Amino acid sequence: MKGLLLAGGYGTRLRPLTFVGNKHMLPIANKPILLYGLEHLRDAGITNIGIILGPLREGIVQALGDGSKFGVKITYLEQPEPKGLAHAVLVAEEYLDNESFTMYLGDNLLRQGAKPLVDVMQKNESDCVVAVTNVKDPSSYGVVVFNDDGTVKNLVEKPKEPISNWALIGVYVFNNKIFDAAKKIKPSWRGELEITDAIQTLLNDGARVDVQRVQGWWKDTGKPQDLLEANQLVLRDLIPYNKGRIEETATVTNNVAIGEGTVVHSRTTIRGPVIIGNHCEIGPNAYIGPYTSIGDDSTIRNSEIENTIVMEGARIDCGRRITDSLIGRKVEVQSSENNVPKGHSLIIGDMSYVTL
Ligand code: G1P
Repeated sequence: MKGLLLAGGYGTRLRPLTFVGNKHMLPIANKPILLYGLEHLRDAGITNIGIILGPLREGIVQALGDGSKFGVKITYLEQPEPKGLAHAVLVAEEYLDNESFTMYLGDNLLRQGAKPLVDVMQKNESDCVVAVTNVKDPSSYGVVVFNDDGTVKNLVEKPKEPISNWALIGVYVFNNKIFDAAKKIKPSWRGELEITDAIQTLLNDGARVDVQRVQGWWKDTGKPQDLLEANQLVLRDLIPYNKGRIEETATVTNNVAIGEGTVVHSRTTIRGPVIIGNHCEIGPNAYIGPYTSIGDDSTIRNSEIENTIVMEGARIDCGRRITDSLIGRKVEVQSSENNVPKGHSLIIGDMSYVTL
């Protein structure tokens, strides 16, 4: 079986963070989102993985290379325009070469990984396996409607009427029947070839479509709030370590992971779960509260930070408390205390948002 990991799209809802980089490379607990999917495919026994790249690919090839670092073999495939998930399947048709494959949307995070779907495919000799989870508002997802006996009745992409609360999550397993199905469908109202419509076509043609109900949490990381929630979910399972140095008057409690060369200075409190990357300076006079991730080479002094993602190379020294925030690479946040006249001084890029 092969893997197909999707990393195209523009990530418009995550601007400005996606102006200079691909959304799949944004870090959750200091690891790019895309790597979670790659590792889940590998852990399901899939080592040949095609990665679909769109027009915004900054950082992906540099970080993942040929995959050998992660124990997989990566082939990069091009989807010049985001024309839908079924279109991505067709772009990969030659690479997939009639093998069964697991398609993993690179912006999805799920605790269970991909293996439970692959197991269902093998046990039932299915033509397709989809995974679903119960959601309160299914209007922004594809949904599955079930028959009374638990088999799939039909699938609908982003239903206007609430016909089912079982949302399709972004992991699918297919055999080669999906290619004909994807060629039969027409673009949807949003101009995309929807994978949900291709799976409905499989059903109409008498193929076997099985469903796996997801165990544990699932997160589709389309919006800023989703990133913070995903960060919380991943940090809940954090395994603590200390590869750095903690000075005597610093207090570190709960699960905290501290990277190489990082120093936690005096008069600093870190209350986990918190992950701190390599070569960071934390403190003096800092508080790092639960559900915070701090990227490599960051400096944080005289500040309090909680429930926040701080990316690489940030410098924060502001005498304030920062909560529920996404702080991009090499961002500086300073104190305005000694400014005359008093006021906040902002140099922020297009489409940034600030709550003062
Ligand atoms: C896509 C699929 C949708 C699925 C969702 C999961 O939606 O079309 O069926 O529920 O991924 O993340 P999109 O992210 O393209 O809106």
